[in-house]
Amino acid sequence: MSKRTPIIAGNWKMNLNYTESVHLVQGLYWQLRDATYDYNAGEVLVIPPFVDIRSVQVLVESDELPIKYGAQDISTHDSGAYTGEVSGSMIKALGASYVLVGHSERRQYHAEDCPDILIGKIKQALKNELTPIFCVGENLEIREAGTYKEHILKQVSDVLQVFSGKEIANFVIAYEPIWAIGTGKTATAADAQEIAFEIRKLILEKSGDEVADSVRIQYGGSAKSSNAADIMAGADVDGLLVGGASLEAEEFSKIVRIATKA
Ligand code: PGA
Repeated sequence: MSKRTPIIAGNWKMNLNYTESVHLVQGLYWQLRDATYDYNAGEVLVIPPFVDIRSVQVLVESDELPIKYGAQDISTHDSGAYTGEVSGSMIKALGASYVLVGHSERRQYHAEDCPDILIGKIKQALKNELTPIFCVGENLEIREAGTYKEHILKQVSDVLQVFSGKEIANFVIAYEPIWAIGTGKTATAADAQEIAFEIRKLILEKSGDEVADSVRIQYGGSAKSSNAADIMAGADVDGLLVGGASLEAEEFSKIVRIATKA
C-alpha cells in the first residue's frame, strides 16, 4: 500500500432507487461503525445514480456521516438546451465531491471514447471543484494482442496533455481492464501494479515527481473482499473502484476495511 490516502469507491452504476440508496449508505455506515473503522485510514465514497444523490446528501448531512459521494457522469456544458444532461454546478450543489469520467461503459455505450469529450468533462469537473476519477483500461482483444500498455498510456496522455501539473495532482485515475469488469475475472495484483506504475511514470515524465506522487490510482474490475488485500499491496495502487460488490453494505464495508487495513 502507498503513502497516499487510499480511496475506496462504490460505483453503483444503474442500480438502486432513492429509498434503496438511503438503506445502503445507512447500512454501510453502521457496518463500518460496528467495526470501529477509522476514516483517517482511507476515504469511503459512493457513486450513486443522479436521481439518488439528493437522498444520499440529506442522509450524509443530517447524520454527519463521514462518507463521501460523487456522480457517474457530468455534462461538457455549463447549462442550457441539452436534454438529459446534468451539469457540474448541479452536481456540486448536491454536495458531491467526485465525478467519474471515461468509465468504459460510457465510452462503449454512449460514444464517450473521444479525448475531446473526456477533456470537456474533466474541465467542467475542475471548474466546479469536483475531483475527476478518470477511468482507463483495455478490452480483451487488446490485452491478448499484448498492446495494452501502449493503449492505456495513450488514453491517459491524450487527455492529460491539456491539464497542468497542479490540476493533475488532484486527479484520481482508475485503471479498469474491461475484461475484468463485471465478469468475475480479476486482473492479478501484478497486472494492477504494472499499469499503476506505468501511469505514474508517465505523469512523472510529464509533470514531475511531486505531481506523480500525489495522483491516486485505483484498480477496478471484479474487486471484492477476497482480492482487495492482494490488489492493494501494489506500491502504486491507491484504491479500488468497486462495482457489483459495492451494492451490498456488508461486503463493501469489508472491502473498505481490508483495502485500508483499518
Ligand atoms: P465491477 O465493476 O466491480 O462490477 O467489475 C467495476 C466498475 O466498472 O467500476
